[in-house]
Amino acid sequence: MSEPAIGIVTVSDRASRGVYRDLGGPAVVAELTRMLCVPWRPECRLVPDEQPLIEAVLRDLADGVGCGLIITTGGTGPAPRDVTPEATVAVCDRMMPGFGEAMRAVSLRSVPTASLSRQTAGIRGRSLIINLPGKPAAIAECLGAVFPAVPYCLDLIGGPRLETDEAVIRVFRPKSLASP
Ligand code: MTE
Repeated sequence: MSEPAIGIVTVSDRASRGVYRDLGGPAVVAELTRMLCVPWRPECRLVPDEQPLIEAVLRDLADGVGCGLIITTGGTGPAPRDVTPEATVAVCDRMMPGFGEAMRAVSLRSVPTASLSRQTAGIRGRSLIINLPGKPAAIAECLGAVFPAVPYCLDLIGGPRLETDEAVIRVFRPKSLASP
């Protein structure tokens, strides 16, 4: 079997127009590379803040490419063009609001503007979709806040089995599912 694909979606008008280089997507790839100790491959996409386009990319990564985990970065603020949470809600069967709550709780310790972040997470079929804020500096912090619960969530929805480097991040699984 080939290694599991993880979808990484940067949502940004300016990065998609080439006004600046996408830093968010590469930051997510770097952080996942640091954390995971199983083979995986990134499927990266860059889209403008347009809800139908974001939805199409999320559907394709989940149903077409078969990514068990899809991470978005950007488009979660209160500005009118920030529509990543709306696109996520539109494509998910069920929402997992605890992921957004965990990220906001951690981020509020360092920035009061963390409450401007509307990021959420949800399940589409056998894929878990998680929104991260767009600021590259927020990516490691927010991913670190939610990742301990991600592998068990994927186990429960029939996604790929992810293992992490325990020196970098410890994940939580019930004993019956933990590795020997
Ligand atoms: N979270 C952390 N950890 N650090 C930050 O600097 N910025 C906030 C918030 N979450 C921030 C953060 C701000 S200013 C906004 S507007 C929201 O994330 C949404 O950002 P986005 O639209 O780029 O996703």
